[in-house]
Amino acid sequence: MSQKIVKRWVLKTMLVVACVGMAPMAMGASFEKWLEGERDIAMKGLLNHISPKDGMPGSVIASPSKNNPNYYFHWVRDAALVMDVIVKRYQHEEDVNMKQAYYDRILDYIHFSRSNQLMPNRSGGLGEPKFNVDGTAFDGDWGRPQNDGPALRAITLIHFAKELLSQGQEEQVRTLLYDNALPSKTVIKVDLEFVSHHWKEASFDLWEEVLGDHFYTRMVQRRALLDGAELARILGDQGAADWYKKQALAIEKSLLSFWDENRKIFVTTLNPSGGLQGKESHLDVAIILGILHGYRDDGFLSPTDDRVLATARALELAFESLYPINGQSNLGTAIGRYPEDRYDGYTTSSQGNPWVLATAAFAEFYYKGADQKKGDLFLKRIEHHANPDGSLSEQMNRYSGFMQGAHDLTWSYASFLTALFARDQNETNLIP
Ligand code: NOJ
Ligand code: NOJ
Repeated sequence: MSQKIVKRWVLKTMLVVACVGMAPMAMGASFEKWLEGERDIAMKGLLNHISPKDGMPGSVIASPSKNNPNYYFHWVRDAALVMDVIVKRYQHEEDVNMKQAYYDRILDYIHFSRSNQLMPNRSGGLGEPKFNVDGTAFDGDWGRPQNDGPALRAITLIHFAKELLSQGQEEQVRTLLYDNALPSKTVIKVDLEFVSHHWKEASFDLWEEVLGDHFYTRMVQRRALLDGAELARILGDQGAADWYKKQALAIEKSLLSFWDENRKIFVTTLNPSGGLQGKESHLDVAIILGILHGYRDDGFLSPTDDRVLATARALELAFESLYPINGQSNLGTAIGRYPEDRYDGYTTSSQGNPWVLATAAFAEFYYKGADQKKGDLFLKRIEHHANPDGSLSEQMNRYSGFMQGAHDLTWSYASFLTALFARDQNETNLIP
């Protein structure tokens, strides 16, 4: 055993002994056990929702729920976040068969994504939010375009491209993902061209409700362009690299204008020009998600930035008093999308609730800020409200805590898994 592993083992044993000593019910141990069980349940949740039997290979359903609500679509945003988890698992998987299984799914997702890019749709561009699982465009009324989608897809696929490059698979990258050509025929480059030329345009937010300029969308656009500039440089597409970088720097400037000096928070939307109105608090968990999905370890708006932390605290306070379940225990605060939310998972003429993915985001956020104890409180909150079989829906009822809204929401599972990755990472870092 390496020294590091021995140290880790000793530390864990000490922790377990300490916990048992402190709490006769061995609370700590049962939480760890729940986390491990839930990790498997969540991973199965992801895999079951990729390439559904009645859909195209590489399509990812947001939830198996086909009515009340109908979430049986490939949402570009949800799919990218889910596939990013699969790319991570692919990178770390040691079992050859499993690794191959992940690889096959990622390739299917690449082909499906490329077909989405080419499919005529009502957004008239790449901002189309969702597709039917047979690959045709969804043609009902919807909040469109949603321009975070292409950025998130690029981020996920650039992770994969880098992994292929590290295996010496440059040809594969050039053929499938990034071809240095204009107009391009490859998915990453097409997305980067779209993001770099359209980021200034108003689009609908990640909650599909408000047309305007959004912190979340800009955060992930910035990251896509900087990650993309790096990939372009490696592949000898220097002119593109410079262009992507220049646009990313302009986005950076625009992001700082979301800081509201009076409210002392990052506001979620500027220049609203359509869609839902009345989000008066300007508070939205989208800020925290923007940091989680958009931060690239370069010091720009990190999880420990004072302004970001102030926003997180304001969100916590707002939800703490808003949701009755928060008064009933000393678990982490159950977090919703934004205080004025009226979508209960079925209709918008109701009251909003805390969301699993928002609460998991707070766990991940604190893990990334190295606040392990605080992060755990949020996952314990999810543990408390999860269905007995471990399944997770979209929301937790604000009065009873019971799961509601789309059942087995794929993004709920993905958000739990990325929180756990951040926790694992944290544990590793604790040991010198
Ligand atoms: C479904 C959307 O996905 C959700 O975010 C929204 O709140 C409702 N429709 C109402 O627009
Ligand atoms: C509603 C959420 O608001 C949106 O962000 C998500 O993409 C869809 N549901 C599908 O999960």
